[in-house]
Amino acid sequence: MKIGIDQIAFATSDKYLDLTELALARDTDPNKFLIGIGQSEQAVIAKTQNIVTLGANAAAQIINDNNRDAIDMVLVATESGIDNSKSAAVYVQKLLNINRYARTLELKQACYAGTAGLMFARDFVASHPDKQVLVIAADVARYGINTPGEVTQGGGAVAMLVKANPQVISLNDDNVYMSDDVMDFWRPIYRSEALVDGHFSATIYQDFFKELWDRYRATTGHAINDFKAFAFHLPFTKMGLKGLREILPEATEDQQAALLAEFEASRVYNRRVGNLYTGSLYLSLISLLANGSVQAGDRIGLFSYGSGAEGEFYSATVEAGFKHGLQTDFNTLFANRTQVSVPEYEEIFADKAPTDGQNVMFDLTNDPNRFVLAGIQDEKHVYKVNI
Ligand code: HMG
Repeated sequence: MKIGIDQIAFATSDKYLDLTELALARDTDPNKFLIGIGQSEQAVIAKTQNIVTLGANAAAQIINDNNRDAIDMVLVATESGIDNSKSAAVYVQKLLNINRYARTLELKQACYAGTAGLMFARDFVASHPDKQVLVIAADVARYGINTPGEVTQGGGAVAMLVKANPQVISLNDDNVYMSDDVMDFWRPIYRSEALVDGHFSATIYQDFFKELWDRYRATTGHAINDFKAFAFHLPFTKMGLKGLREILPEATEDQQAALLAEFEASRVYNRRVGNLYTGSLYLSLISLLANGSVQAGDRIGLFSYGSGAEGEFYSATVEAGFKHGLQTDFNTLFANRTQVSVPEYEEIFADKAPTDGQNVMFDLTNDPNRFVLAGIQDEKHVYKVNI
């Protein structure tokens, strides 16, 4: 039985920052950001959006009256959670009116947890083939104004409906994974911005990819020429290119050119959104499927990495109806975004939802998204639905 992603959708902020403008404001050559880092724009997330609203805005594109009652589990993967106890999945279930007999759970291991959610969903469907699982990977990436990581901020959510006989990709159950206690990136619970040992984190990412690729080849017997394309976790898009370059020498010259062309397709959307941690690999998957030349039956490789650190490499097969399962219209999404200036971005960045228990209601006139965080009352988040 084939199991995998039947529908996939994306949501982000309606505001973005142009990274050429950021480079100039930081007295940096724009080509460092555009080429050296591989990012051109960055989602700017106002306090009226958080992982719950982003997740709900993504999932709303795939939840409807036909599947609302069939969903047996809602998994939200995130490392920017809003509560140390209650899972974001419960809020999403309520906002989307998903049936009350679904399990709801939040998962955490840095950027890796979206992949854990996808694999837990696959294993669940394998033993309950009539069930469907909603997996959401939602995050807001914050490093701080004028930090080296600033250019790699961003945010958004990817929602995936996992079921038997999927129309987008089927998961081949050939995963290899590894984890190790590494302090490359972390965020203690009292901080809203991540701490990172930037260059070290990039080295660990590459080391994990190379080790897992070698392990994958040894355990499955597959080689690079079995793959039409690779999709990577893209904290910044140059990072995926560094990963791909680790294994390109194993391919012929023609294959190398083809794999590099598919890689370009896989980073089109990520270049304009930035890091969305758990959802990053899956935004790259959407970008590859929408902009590349992959076709039904092609094998693609996916590399998931979460600092701290955990890595996983697996393959998937593209299914015949894959274009129908891509639910987000990216032309409209990007066309509807509003560019903010560097001072406006800095103001939005500093204007955080309070964490000291005070009652507040936010001005929502500048947030056109369907689900918004309207405020905090009695230490409870208050959500609103724009019809
Ligand atoms: P930096 O030190 O400012 O940048 O920080 P750099 O000096 O290393 O330069 C970056 C690249 O730009 C280099 O290319 C330069 O040569 C190039 P590379 O050698 O790497 O190929 N460059 C130029 N290119 C063209 N024209 C120019 C020019 N100038 C320089 N004029 C760093 C970069 C990524 C370290 C920083 O932004 C950072 O700390 N980011 C956050 C950490 C991160 O994203 N790490 C990635 C791996 S860890 C991960 O993926 C997990 C994560 O998503 C979190 C999670 O799991 O939860 C982060």
